[in-house]
Amino acid sequence: MIDEKLLDAAKKASENAYAPYSKFKVGAALKTKEGKIFSGCNVENASYGLTMCAERVTIFKAISEGYQDFSEMTLYVDSDILFTPCGACRQVIAEFSCEMKITIVSRKKTLETSIKELLPYGFSLDE
Ligand code: THU
Repeated sequence: MIDEKLLDAAKKASENAYAPYSKFKVGAALKTKEGKIFSGCNVENASYGLTMCAERVTIFKAISEGYQDFSEMTLYVDSDILFTPCGACRQVIAEFSCEMKITIVSRKKTLETSIKELLPYGFSLDE
């Protein structure tokens, strides 16, 4: 089931994306266990490797505001492509929550998944 509030926040954040190079404007919205919502967008750079994805911007915003427990994340891109988080974002998501639900929404498709599914056998120092 899609959390419409979270999807709205992700859509709104995607409008702020700075993506003059790829034109791929991504928005992410993250819900904390307390029910607080953080959102973020991708921020590109002329030196392409410095680009930061929407997922990491959003997680870093939440962490820096003192929140570390998350229940759900929704990603949105206004495109026909149903993308999935890049490897770096998967590793960062796994650092903070292996349990959270991840919903990815594009114009034509929706995928409900989890970090366990997206990053099987990911690196962790937990036993
Ligand atoms: N991007 C994200 O923000 N999140 C993803 O999950 C995939 C890719 C961004 C990075 C770059 O600005 C653009 O999309 C194209 O790769």
